[in-house]
Amino acid sequence: MTIEKPLHLTLIAGARPNFMKIASLVHAIKQKQQAGCAIAYTLVHTGQHYDSKLSDVFFEDLQIPLPDVNLEVGSGSHARQTAEIMIRFEDFIRANPTDWVIVVGDVNSTLACTIVAKKLGIPVAHVEAGIRSGDQSMPEEINRLVTDSIADLFFTTSIYANQHLLREGKNERQVHLVGNTMIDSLVRNRERFTAPAVFDKKNLTAGDYYLMTLHRPSNVDDAAVLQSLLEQIIQAIGNMPLVFPVHPRTRKKLEELAFQWPPSILLCDPLRYLEFLYLVQHARAVITDSGGIQEETTYLGVPCLTLRANTERPETIHQGTNLLIGDDMGLLNRSLAQIEQRAWKKGSIPDYWDGKAGERIVERLVQLNIAE
Ligand code: UD1
Repeated sequence: MTIEKPLHLTLIAGARPNFMKIASLVHAIKQKQQAGCAIAYTLVHTGQHYDSKLSDVFFEDLQIPLPDVNLEVGSGSHARQTAEIMIRFEDFIRANPTDWVIVVGDVNSTLACTIVAKKLGIPVAHVEAGIRSGDQSMPEEINRLVTDSIADLFFTTSIYANQHLLREGKNERQVHLVGNTMIDSLVRNRERFTAPAVFDKKNLTAGDYYLMTLHRPSNVDDAAVLQSLLEQIIQAIGNMPLVFPVHPRTRKKLEELAFQWPPSILLCDPLRYLEFLYLVQHARAVITDSGGIQEETTYLGVPCLTLRANTERPETIHQGTNLLIGDDMGLLNRSLAQIEQRAWKKGSIPDYWDGKAGERIVERLVQLNIAE
């Protein structure tokens, strides 16, 4: 008779886009537990995002338990925030040993917890590893490069990510193309998407509005850049209503601008997960500088215009519905005209984006535990 060695995972979440990825892992672990597998997890929230609209409501919408611990680091410069996460996570993980630290995405929490775990000799698995924008002016690119340079196991969303990791010297046995945990959450919750208040209040109808998000430092941190971007977008969309949920980072800058909003722009606070995805699913097009939204629009077949010069998610362009606009407002105008004529590319869903990435990840960790 073989006695199964129990497996313990410590999952790290810090900022909004992490919660959808972690939720998929939590559901997959629970499934394994129900099947009798000796697996347990601890969910650590670093507290990088602390506003309820960027954090708490996501646990409810994603139907996952609240974190076991919140390190409450809050905001700060990159160095301060990263350092504070490291200090607090080091104390936590010393007192609460684990078999694996699992980090997701590319935020400061991903980087900080990876460094701490590795220096304590704890193996790290990176979910959404290997994506690269090639642009080191993005803080996330630095986080990706450093995390992937020392992590032990790499779970990827695309063949491009595998290629980057292999080129950077990783061994094939460490790199697993498993699909997309953010899409897992979308697939799981699709029937539960709910119209937000702004939808009914403003009499919006499916397919007859645009949706926009902006929060990249390169677009919003400089007031003059933000102002000029908004003026050009407003001109490009004409009279079509545009819903604009405003990230706290962007809100701060907008407060300095006293911007004159035309009635077609519908500003609101950051939305809950189920409400935001309802708006994505029914939008005529999405204008964004987010990473995750490029993936969600590709999955849902909604045109996406990305206000960035590059992307770490090229499959959304080559295969999906995404186009990089950069700061070329002529291209934005032409693209919107094409969308209005219903002439936008249809796109297809990348391989393994089927709602089962979390299950594949947990299965792999369980198999490794048995093999040890
Ligand atoms: C972070 C991630 C980014 C991710 C984004 C999603 C890094 C480097 N960046 O960027 O990859 O796409 O989250 O939202 O990890 N703030 C609040 N309330 C909060 C959190 C932040 O008001 O709950 C304010 C802070 O005071 C700060 C600003 O928002 O001024 C930015 O927050 P921060 O966590 O540093 O980065 P994000 O821009 O949110």
